[in-house]
Amino acid sequence: MRQRPPGGRSNKESKVKGKKPTTLLSEEHAEVLRKLDDLERLIGRLEEREEATEGLKALAAFFAADFWVHFTKEEEGLFPEMDKFLPRNTGPIGAMLIEHEHLRKTNSHLQAELAQYFSGSSSTETVSSIRRYGTDFISGLRDHIAKEDNILFRIADAHLTETQDAAILEKFDQIAPAAV
Ligand SMILES: [Fe+2]
Ligand SMILES: [Fe+2]
Repeated sequence: MRQRPPGGRSNKESKVKGKKPTTLLSEEHAEVLRKLDDLERLIGRLEEREEATEGLKALAAFFAADFWVHFTKEEEGLFPEMDKFLPRNTGPIGAMLIEHEHLRKTNSHLQAELAQYFSGSSSTETVSSIRRYGTDFISGLRDHIAKEDNILFRIADAHLTETQDAAILEKFDQIAPAAV
């Protein structure tokens, strides 16, 4: 168990105080959607290497590592509590997990192509592969986020008890103590 600072609440506690797990996840979605807009804009400018590279490198780094903490929060925090009233082998949780896997694979392809681009490749193949995988990743993740925000999280809010919300928040804290 992580130690709390002496003398009261940490900044993180005050920031998440009173928020549901689904609210925190939706706030992360909003940030991710902004990054997807940036990614879409930059993969349209790959021929302008000097202008595109710095922003693309920052986005590639985010989608290579930090972003996946969000999926871990859903898979290890939210979904197991939802399993108690919405078994995952059927219905929306199963569908979300399949989409997570697809997005992980698409991102791996995209990252490999971006690595080629960053190492200097300007070949037509590299550029068209970045656009193909990038477009698939961007549209797939936008759709996925819309389904979670508009359907899955509404189901969660209608069914999760306060005790379950607290357990999920505790799990989030274990997964990413410094990220919130
Ligand atoms: Fe998800
Ligand atoms: Fe999500």
